[in-house]
Amino acid sequence: MDRPHPIRGSQPLVAGTDVDVPVLDGSRRRYINFDNAASTPALLAVRNGVDRFLDYYASVHRGSGFKSQLATWAYEQARLRTLAFVGARPETHTCIFGKNTTEAINKLARRLDLHGGDVVLTTEMEHHSDDLPFRAVAQVVHVAVDAQGRLDEADYDRLLKRHRGKVRLVAITGASNVTGFINPIHRLAEKAHAAGALFLADCAQLAPHRVVEARALTDPGHLDFIALSAHKMYAPYGTGALIGRKDVFEAGEPDVRGGGTVEIVTVDTVAWAGPPEKDEAGSPNVVGAVALALAIGELSTIGMPAIARHEAGLTAHALHGLRRISGVRVFGDADPEHAAERLGVIPFSVDGVSHFLVAAILGYEFAIGVRSGCFCAHPYVLRLVGLDHAQAEAARARILAGDRREMPGMTRISFGLYNSIEEVDQFLEALAVVAGGKQRGHYTQDRATGEYRPHGWAPDFESVFPLSAPTGGNS
Ligand SMILES: Cc1ncc(COP(=O)(O)O)c(C=O)c1O
Repeated sequence: MDRPHPIRGSQPLVAGTDVDVPVLDGSRRRYINFDNAASTPALLAVRNGVDRFLDYYASVHRGSGFKSQLATWAYEQARLRTLAFVGARPETHTCIFGKNTTEAINKLARRLDLHGGDVVLTTEMEHHSDDLPFRAVAQVVHVAVDAQGRLDEADYDRLLKRHRGKVRLVAITGASNVTGFINPIHRLAEKAHAAGALFLADCAQLAPHRVVEARALTDPGHLDFIALSAHKMYAPYGTGALIGRKDVFEAGEPDVRGGGTVEIVTVDTVAWAGPPEKDEAGSPNVVGAVALALAIGELSTIGMPAIARHEAGLTAHALHGLRRISGVRVFGDADPEHAAERLGVIPFSVDGVSHFLVAAILGYEFAIGVRSGCFCAHPYVLRLVGLDHAQAEAARARILAGDRREMPGMTRISFGLYNSIEEVDQFLEALAVVAGGKQRGHYTQDRATGEYRPHGWAPDFESVFPLSAPTGGNS
């Protein structure tokens, strides 16, 4: 019997915590999801709330019936809840719904009216989604990280000074999706403002685990823009949000144009609507926004401090356990005493075993879902694993030649509010088997993807969730 969960007693919190899945020895095991930094399961409060909402779902905005009015009201309430969740005031900030953090940051990059001579200061620890969108529109300068992967704040200060007058935006992650390091975003924002720049906090990782505070615009450490993804916040229904200064979105023209973005159109004139409508072209994802609002309600009820405490307990326990498995190296900060100061995202390697193989064995033999590779943060991961320039170039050449077998990387576990100490213990036992070379299966590696699959066995997804493509014709 599992111990009662410290956050919610013995009540399940999220969908699918009691699901058994098939494993290599022919048995079934309770699935353990330790890939929460990538995506989280739905909170039951979200799933049930969405189910109730679907009875009322109808077209939003100019629909005239009761259901349309209710759906429109719910969509606008979702906006207000999202603003409140990050401590942003509707008088100064707007909430633009989109698909995810990536879309939010791309929108910001296009809407800031940046030019070739403008500098966007970001860091070597960013997810590609907080780096690549800016490369298309400005000169991107990267703040260094130290060997452990912590932001080098002295380098930040130097670069702000060196590019003073040209830095239009500083874009920094609230917390790393690789090492779980939490950045001092308000202090960094204060310095950015003093240098005349705006500040974006990529809160894809921070928002599900810590209180995010936009703060009043009069506070020197305020956040001008915040991006987040609902699928990382227990509401996987396809929504993300860009919370940002209203004055920025009042100016300029939308990057995507179409229905919903205008006041009035003639054959040769367009009067754009104000924010946020101007920046939400086409029919919005109302269900996604409502799901996010439901998740925010539940996260607030549980309390972000309780979530942080629980996840710090899991992190400390995991770090203690990982120390005891020989051949395991933890990247970033491996000290269990520091668990409360970082997120429960732990990257590691096992001596002599490919990160792809570690992940495959955990999945196929122990029903433990983790992630391996570079986590969409190639420069950061290459730095952490200690590749020099020549090695990084060689890896790049192999990948471009279609061979990912030797792709540098790590394996990562990441916790969510519903995970338990028992699950961490099961993971540690499984990892000891991997590190000891005692796995049951024989695995072959795919050249193109680098992934390993066991000989003679493959899960039958259709028997678990029938969704095969129809056969024959188009009927
Ligand atoms: C720090 C960070 N930023 C941005 C993203 C991109 O999020 P999404 O894939 O939801 O757009 C991620 C996803 O893992 C992330 O961890």
